[in-house]
Amino acid sequence: MAKQALWSGRFETEADESALRFTSSLDVDSALAFYDVMGSLAHVRMLKKQKIMPAKDADKITDGLISIVSMMENGEFEIDGTSEDIHSAVEFKLTEMIGPVGGKLHTGRSRNDQVATDLRMYLRDVMLEAVIDIDTLAMSLLKIAEDHGGTVMPGFTHMQHAQPVTLAQHMLAHIFRLSRDADRFFDALGRMDRCPLGSAALAGTTYPIDRKMTAKALGFKAPTQNSMDSVSSRDNVSEAMFCASMAALDMSSLCEELIIWSSQEFGFIEMDDVFTTGSSIMPQKKNPDIAELIRGRTGAVVGGLVSLMVTMKGLPLSYNRDLQEDKGPAMDSLSVVSDCANMLSKVVSTMKVSKDAMSAAAEKGFINATDLADYLVTKGIPFREAHGIVGECVRYCISRGKKLEDLTLKEFKKFSDSIGSDVYEILPVKACVERRNSYGGTSSASVDTQITEAANAVMERDDRVRRETQLIEGCWDRLLERHTGQPM
Ligand code: ARG
Repeated sequence: MAKQALWSGRFETEADESALRFTSSLDVDSALAFYDVMGSLAHVRMLKKQKIMPAKDADKITDGLISIVSMMENGEFEIDGTSEDIHSAVEFKLTEMIGPVGGKLHTGRSRNDQVATDLRMYLRDVMLEAVIDIDTLAMSLLKIAEDHGGTVMPGFTHMQHAQPVTLAQHMLAHIFRLSRDADRFFDALGRMDRCPLGSAALAGTTYPIDRKMTAKALGFKAPTQNSMDSVSSRDNVSEAMFCASMAALDMSSLCEELIIWSSQEFGFIEMDDVFTTGSSIMPQKKNPDIAELIRGRTGAVVGGLVSLMVTMKGLPLSYNRDLQEDKGPAMDSLSVVSDCANMLSKVVSTMKVSKDAMSAAAEKGFINATDLADYLVTKGIPFREAHGIVGECVRYCISRGKKLEDLTLKEFKKFSDSIGSDVYEILPVKACVERRNSYGGTSSASVDTQITEAANAVMERDDRVRRETQLIEGCWDRLLERHTGQPM
C-alpha cells in the first residue's frame, strides 16, 4: 500500500500504483538523500531564527533530521520505496519519528527549490572529485613525461610522420588538455555557486525568510537572484555535463592512441597484464579493453549532455516535471568520468614504453625534411624555394630507397649549392627535436618548462579542492550540531 502522497488532499482517490511507479524518481534521487537533509537543516534553522517557526518545533525537527543523518551513516536509513521521491521519503521519515510537527518543515519552500538545491550540492561534490581524479591521471602522465624527455618518437599530422617529437612532449599535450578539463569544472562551479533554496514553488514566498542565511549555511556564495529562474533552469547541470563530456572526450582520444600504439604495427607500448584482457578463442591475444571501454563510454557521457539539452529546449517557465529527468544522466556522466580517469591512470602508470620502437619509427618517413628546409633558409634561401628543393631531395631518396641523411654531399649539391657538410649536423632526429626550442616546442628545455607549469597547475587545483572541501565539511559540521539555542 502506497504512502499518501504529499499532495493527496486535493484528490478524491489515490493515484494508480502504476502511475506512482512511473512518476517516481526515487531510484535516482536517493543519491541526494544526504544533501536533502542538509538543505532541510539549513531551512529549519533559518525558520527558527526568523521566528517563522516556534523554537521548540524547530529544535525538534532539527534533532529529528540529525538523527536521520546518523541513521544514514550507520546504514539504518531505509528509504520507503513507495515514496514519490527522496524529498517525500525524508519528510515521511521525519514525521514518523517526531510526529505531525514534522509537517512544519515544508513552510516557505517547495520541492522545486529543494531539488534544485540538492542537485547543486551533489554536483559540487562530484565535480570536485572529478577534478581530483582527472589530476590523478594527469600526474601519471606527468611521470611518463618526466621519464621520457629524451625518448624520440614520430609526431603525426594526418596520421603521417610529420616531425620528430619526444614522448614527453606528446604526453604533455594530453596533460594540458586534461588540465583545462579540470579547470573547466572550477569555472562551472563558480557559476553554480548560488543557492536556489527559498525560491519556493516559483514565485518566492510570503514568509520573511532569510535566503542569504541558508545559502551561507549550505556553503554557497549567495542566493540565486530570481525565483523562477531558480526552479526552472538547469544550465548548471548541462554545464557540469559538458565538462564531463569534454573530459571523457579527451580521455577517449588518449585511449585511441594507446590502442594504436599497443598494436603489433606500432609496438610503442605494452600494457600491463593486469589491465588487459585475453580472447576466448585466440590464445595469443592481449587486448586493450580498458582503453576501448573508456573510448566507448564517452558516447554515453556526450549522449547524456545532449539528452538534457534537448529536454530543456522546449520547456516554458517555470518548473515542469520534465526536469526530473536531469539527475540520472548527470549523475552517470560524472561517475563515468571519475571511474575512467582512475582506471586510465592505472593503465598508463603500469604500461611499458618501447623507446626502441619509438625511435626506430622516428627514423622513417623523412621526418627531418622540414629541418632540411629550415637549414636552407639559414643559407639565405626563401622558405618557399627551400620547400621545393627538399621536396625534390625526398623524391630522389624515395626512388633510391635512401634517407635524407644517407645522401652524399655531392648528391645534395645537385639540388642546391648552398648545402654544405654542416647539413649532417641538423639531420639526426635528436638534433631536430632539440632545435625546436620555441615556447611550447618539443626541445628538452621547453619540455622542462611545461612539466613545471603542468605540475604547478595540478598542485594549485589540489589546494583549491582541499579548501572547498573544508568549507563544505565545515558547513555540514555546523548544521549537524545539536540545537544549542544559538541561531547557527
Ligand atoms: N522529483 C522532482 C524532481 O526531481 C521534484 C518534485 C517536484 N515535483 C512537483 N510535482 N513539483 O524534479
